[in-house]
Amino acid sequence: MRILGIETSCDETAAAVVEDGAAILSSVVASQLETHGRYGGVVPELASREHLRAIVPVTREALERAATPLAQLDAIAVTAGPGLVGSLLVGITYAKALSFARSIPLIGVNHIEGHIHAVVLENAARIEYPALALVVSGGHTHLFEVRAGFEYRLLGRTRDDAAGEAFDKVAKLLGFGYPGGPVIDRLAPYGNPRAVPFTLARMKGNALDFSFSGLKTAVLRWVESHDMAAEIDARRSLLRTTPHPNTEAWLAVTPQATRDLLASFQRTVIEELLRRAASSAENIAARTLIISGGVASNAGLRAAARDARFPYPALFPSPGLSTDNAAMIAAAAFPRLQRKQFDDFTLSARANLALA
Ligand code: KG4
Ligand code: ZN
Repeated sequence: MRILGIETSCDETAAAVVEDGAAILSSVVASQLETHGRYGGVVPELASREHLRAIVPVTREALERAATPLAQLDAIAVTAGPGLVGSLLVGITYAKALSFARSIPLIGVNHIEGHIHAVVLENAARIEYPALALVVSGGHTHLFEVRAGFEYRLLGRTRDDAAGEAFDKVAKLLGFGYPGGPVIDRLAPYGNPRAVPFTLARMKGNALDFSFSGLKTAVLRWVESHDMAAEIDARRSLLRTTPHPNTEAWLAVTPQATRDLLASFQRTVIEELLRRAASSAENIAARTLIISGGVASNAGLRAAARDARFPYPALFPSPGLSTDNAAMIAAAAFPRLQRKQFDDFTLSARANLALA
């Protein structure tokens, strides 16, 4: 059974064809980084316009690469939320139109469930339930219990910034541009992760909730108390002349103290993520740990999860499936197709759609 997935929740226009929830026949992602990079973050109006431009060619390419005409599709899955409403609407409207014109069943998918299925897609046979899912991206930092049959229970979430957002804000502050995660990931190995002893505030209430805004403020304080204006300027002008500086170019404008700062920041985020993931996994007697979302591509996080030697497998998506894509959306819809649980044309965009 083949599902066409469509994803337009943020700044990637993506389409993919997935067979039986497990085999990716095609996965096309048109990134809008060039558009938003110069503004230091996603500009919602521009994102919607870019989706409008890209949605038809991207979908056509996904169908062609999968050698799958519309008539061979068993369902069309589309992200219904959470995300930017204007962006979501482009994908949803297009999916509804295709569904209506060709009488193909429609399935609205939660974006966060999609991130979890980026791991399920490749590891269905290895995952034992209950599983603990840590979804870490630019918009979300959530811990879910995942039960057999894909029932979810929210165990903890960020009270303020998402982990990816913290990476993005720190990078922007230091002149590394947007998005921040990939640059910090590449430079962190050149610094001493213990150089700056960042700590995270203890919180009242749910011990499994995250908070990253204090860490962001601590980085800001550090920057204010060190004379960094010249190097920050040097990095901003590097970005103006070179759209994608390589690691060497970045290192040339990043003194050792700043490399140490990046490494220490990243270490603190990783420790926090894994500590809370491990305690919630213990609470629910999890048999598998799933770590997914854009931040799951972080090499330091992957290494730390491996080194932690958890008593259950810690599974990550393979490259290209961590950040936003449509294969994960098609995969998340597969159990719904099996149960013939379809949506009608009242399906609408929901900025804050909750998974549980
Ligand atoms: O899942 P995603 O593509 O979009 C959302 O649903 O938000 O995640 C994007 C986020 C950005 O904040 C980006 O900085 C972060 O994931 N990210 C990373 C890495 N690659 C992307 N963070 C840390 N290390 C990375 N290698
Ligand atoms: Zn995402």
